[in-house]
Amino acid sequence: PLVFVLNGPNLNLLGKRQQEIYGSETLADIESLCHETASRLGLRVDFRQSNAEHVLIDWIHAAREDAAGIVINPAAYTHTSVAIQDALAACPQPILEVHISNIHKREPFRQHSFVSAVASAVISGCGSQGYALALARIAQLVGVPPP
Ligand code: DQA
Repeated sequence: PLVFVLNGPNLNLLGKRQQEIYGSETLADIESLCHETASRLGLRVDFRQSNAEHVLIDWIHAAREDAAGIVINPAAYTHTSVAIQDALAACPQPILEVHISNIHKREPFRQHSFVSAVASAVISGCGSQGYALALARIAQLVGVPPP
């Protein structure tokens, strides 16, 4: 089974921006972690990042057709995007919302997520490990026998 792992704006700067919040790992490190984790779980991963809301929406539409599950870190669009919520609401497959930081112990404007209302589950504050946990949960939900 194929899982889309979608990353929103500024996550291309991981490892360079605000290391005290997001750590020193880069998005390439997280992509490697996702591929390793997926192959252990019997999943395949299509890993993508965009700074543009409409590109993320197009990818959610593609995932709706092609993916068994979606892992999404919508980054700042978490807190602003009704359009991303609507796109995800059209997807019947499991949706795991991931945040590297614990958004609930940060600024008040980060504490509302438009995505959580349509997510199967939310993982926030586990660092890059959150992506691996999300893939493990998708494997459970789609019932993949381990390889
Ligand atoms: C984030 C949290 C968001 O509030 C923020 O805008 C991000 C990253 C996280 O992974 O912790 O860019 O989604």
